[in-house]
Amino acid sequence: MMRQHFITFEGIDGAGKSTHIAPLAERLRAAGFQVVTTREPGGTPLAERLRELALHQGMDALTEALLMFAARREHIRAVIGPALERGAVVLCDRFTDATFAYQGGGRGLDWDALSRLERLVQAGDQGRVLQPGLTLWFDLPPPAAAARLADARLPDRFEAQPVAFFEAVQAAYARRLREAPKRIVRIDASQTREAVWDAVWTAVQGHVERK
Ligand code: TYD
Repeated sequence: MMRQHFITFEGIDGAGKSTHIAPLAERLRAAGFQVVTTREPGGTPLAERLRELALHQGMDALTEALLMFAARREHIRAVIGPALERGAVVLCDRFTDATFAYQGGGRGLDWDALSRLERLVQAGDQGRVLQPGLTLWFDLPPPAAAARLADARLPDRFEAQPVAFFEAVQAAYARRLREAPKRIVRIDASQTREAVWDAVWTAVQGHVERK
């Protein structure tokens, strides 16, 4: 099987992950890679509709998690899977670590229940479970992230949460890192933008060039 490059970007709102995805895609294209950039929840017309609901409509935590996984299932089947099959590098703004962080950590849903959904939704051929090959976790203390968000546009249901919510989200990201230390690379997002970019490029270059 061809080596697949599925790279995801994670962190609390305001950590600054998204600004690095477009330049990274450019850099990889210049290096000769075919690149697909996408995001979760979303990435297909149906999944974008589910995103709209999840971000703006009040609902119970399990419903919220199921919507995230429903959007993910659709996204994997329509976009991520086919792109990986044809050998593209897939750069995805958030994936399942965000569900563990926000619905697990933030909303308090059971970790094992989320793990079962993860295995069900990401099941592929021959019992394999689709996982990113590399995840960059942009780690920034919640008060600093909140200060960055304060100047931003109208907050969605998650961005409107108090700092305590993001402390719990942050702790859940740290737990994911402990559970998958080879896959997840922590990026210190409190550094200058240039230093963060250098860390991003170093991690990604090391990943895509590994034989
Ligand atoms: P985000 O990725 O921050 O996009 P934008 O930069 O446009 O705000 O917004 C997605 C929000 O959805 C974010 O607050 C985290 C949340 N989210 C979950 O709660 N669970 C998930 O599984 C995913 C993928 C996202």
